[in-house]
Amino acid sequence: MLNPEVLVQLHHIVGDQGLRTDVLSLQTYGRDWTKIYEPAPSAIALPKSTEQVQAIIQLANQAGFKIVPSGGRTGLSGGAVAAQGEVVVSLERMRHILDFNVQDRSLTCEAGVITAQIQQFAAEQNLFYPVDFAAAGSSQIGGNIATNAGGIKVIRYGLTRQQVLGLEVVTGQGELLKLNHGLVKNATGYDLRHLFIGSEGTLGIITQASLQLIRAPDNLTVLVLGVPAFAALMQVLLRFQANLDLTAFEFFSAEALHYVVQDQGLAKPFATPAPYYALLEFENDSAGREQAALQAFQDGLAQNIVLDGVMSQSQTQAKALWRLRELISETISVYTPYKNDLSVRVSQVAEFLQAVDQLVAERYAAFEVIWYGHIGDGNLHLNILKPATMEKADFFEHCAAVNEQVFALTQSLKGSISAEHGVGLLKRDYLAYSRSPEEIAYMRAMKALFDPNQVLNPGKLLS
Ligand code: MLT
Ligand code: ZN
Repeated sequence: MLNPEVLVQLHHIVGDQGLRTDVLSLQTYGRDWTKIYEPAPSAIALPKSTEQVQAIIQLANQAGFKIVPSGGRTGLSGGAVAAQGEVVVSLERMRHILDFNVQDRSLTCEAGVITAQIQQFAAEQNLFYPVDFAAAGSSQIGGNIATNAGGIKVIRYGLTRQQVLGLEVVTGQGELLKLNHGLVKNATGYDLRHLFIGSEGTLGIITQASLQLIRAPDNLTVLVLGVPAFAALMQVLLRFQANLDLTAFEFFSAEALHYVVQDQGLAKPFATPAPYYALLEFENDSAGREQAALQAFQDGLAQNIVLDGVMSQSQTQAKALWRLRELISETISVYTPYKNDLSVRVSQVAEFLQAVDQLVAERYAAFEVIWYGHIGDGNLHLNILKPATMEKADFFEHCAAVNEQVFALTQSLKGSISAEHGVGLLKRDYLAYSRSPEEIAYMRAMKALFDPNQVLNPGKLLS
């Protein structure tokens, strides 16, 4: 627990409004959406400026307390959990968009700005911020950058990394770094900006970011297709990609659809039953594109890789179809899912799906398995639901044992055990399935360089 003298010094830095130690705040700010760890922070500090973040980190180095950087806490790997008496440093009061430049098509903002506000701001300028996912209404841009957030449009626009033009960061030893200054081109050696993107708050706290905005896509149109088998999904992708630049290619299983229909009261996309569904999105900005989509659909039917389908005829209908996919995570969260977030190269998805499916059929025979994910990026979300009668601890123990085999399969294809959710606490002990001993040694060396006193996010990413 914190020395009372340290609390006084923290109070001195952030003032009355910036320090909380009440039980509700400790519970709220000490956990993320992982929900499987018991929060136990010592205090919550809510700085209002980069200078205050710097002062807190410098104090932590002097006084020896640990810090958990905190954004919207929507993460799913325990990266924002504070369970060991740490001080949570929440960026939520640093929530201003500071600058917009029409010629650069870029904005600069503080780290605590909510992702959806950035999307909204971009739309008001007739531009587009392309990183999008179901938690965008709660997650913050600093957290997105710290986890290199992915989501539903990666197939066309890339990850958060692709949008970051500049960063302001306070390192683990309290130095202020201003990186890349919004430049598009900069060939002056190591690009430190990219080290902090995806570093999960272990090297520094991101305080400001400059982001690239892009042309707003025109008339995004959604197709939901019923697909007869796993093997057909990637053939459908290939068929549509031959004629169209897709802005999304997602999939979900009949079981996933069942839960959103049952628990959220959504309508099924069409009556024909299918074991799997693909959700595709494209920019329908000319008659030719719509024609190409319809042709691919007809070809899919003729080749028996598509069973049925629906295409949105309005933005309202497009949004309604997206809800079938976007509400899956929230809907099944009440069934205590054991979550997995895996990726392989797109060309290996078919092989990987088949192998994991076989393993799951053998080892999870008694469990409900829910599949969904960003399959066009090679990213699969495999969720196992806890049977109502089973103790949580027994369930997680069983799943963890099976997981070793899922990870071994992933490793055999040189895939990733965390495609987009991050390593955090949840995947930390499995890092070696995706990273070599040499890589991990370099990662540790970087941690020692930027955070020599191990002040930031202890136990996350690296043990
Ligand atoms: C999603 O794709 O829905 C998110 O990554 C959340 C999840 O995997 O549950
Ligand atoms: Zn996802």
